[in-house]
Amino acid sequence: SVRPRALSGIQPTAGSFHLGNYLGAIRQYVALQETHDAFYMVVDLHAITVPQDPAELRANTRLAVAQLLASGLDPDRCTLFVQSHVPEHAQLGWVMNCLTGFGEASRMTQFKDKSAKQGADRATVGLFTYPILQVADILLYQAEAVPVGEDQRQHIELTRDLAERFNTRFGATFTVPAPHIVKEVAKIYDLQDPTSKMSKSASTPKGLVNLLDEPKTTAKKIRSAVTDTGTVISFDPVEKAGISNLLTIYATLTGRSIPELVKEYEGRMYGALKTDLAEIVVDFVTPFRERTQAYLDDPETLDSILAKGAEKARAVAAESLATAYDRIGL
Ligand code: ADP
Ligand code: NA
Repeated sequence: SVRPRALSGIQPTAGSFHLGNYLGAIRQYVALQETHDAFYMVVDLHAITVPQDPAELRANTRLAVAQLLASGLDPDRCTLFVQSHVPEHAQLGWVMNCLTGFGEASRMTQFKDKSAKQGADRATVGLFTYPILQVADILLYQAEAVPVGEDQRQHIELTRDLAERFNTRFGATFTVPAPHIVKEVAKIYDLQDPTSKMSKSASTPKGLVNLLDEPKTTAKKIRSAVTDTGTVISFDPVEKAGISNLLTIYATLTGRSIPELVKEYEGRMYGALKTDLAEIVVDFVTPFRERTQAYLDDPETLDSILAKGAEKARAVAAESLATAYDRIGL
């Protein structure tokens, strides 16, 4: 294919996606299908680096896939699969573990953050080495573009280092992914605390728009979003964080520009904007929920999409792994 290869992993642990996930990440995945040879995987092997309930993990993995399909990922235009369905991830992951210095792995700041949350004694070796599995995830597909957020930048650097190390030691084998990281197009803030990011773990229920919530509940949350005491609708993330967040959501969901919206709402009250936005969000989440549910209600179709995705992914991954094994002397 002449299109550049892109690879991204999506965590299955979150249950319902929220508006921040969709507007900040998933929408970009959908767009990338048109310009890239895109591989998207639900990273269940990464999920087990922290304790998981087996039935919940399985259900969450399928729920993530159903929501990605409902968002517009098209299995005919991208490769959508579950990480554990492609055993080459674990296999190349081991090889990469053996190329990574202990000190080098210890410098990954996400482990410090994540293990601190769990208590150092309960953190697993899997959590410690998960950036190295992520390296394998990317290198298996010879990916050039890796659409991840800023917090993953260090892991992409590790990927580049290990690809170059492997290539130098054993001969050119892996594409070194571009250091360029696709930035979040939109950052969505908590509806009740518009100075902090909307987040599954940190937002209160009223501040968080889960895409699978009852549309009525969602409309209410938008209408009761915290805004300042002023009356003028303008985009000013510092002085008017709440109204600016609503304008960002409005613009991103409708594809309209913020200046255009500000002009349209000139002389009108915050309430008018909230009422309109509530309707726009409801119009988005209603079919999203229905599509997600339709995939969940048809497990055979979901299974066959995932089987086809795993087959397409394995065709690429197996070739990379075979070359790597051969070069190493395995
Ligand atoms: P959360 O922070 O809710 O746990 P994740 O860390 O699982 O969400 O993020 C999944 C994807 O969604 C990432 O690419 C992340 O950058 C994006 N994302 C998460 N929250 C937001 C937000 N509030 N605004 C924009 N993008 C977001
Ligand atoms: Na996060």
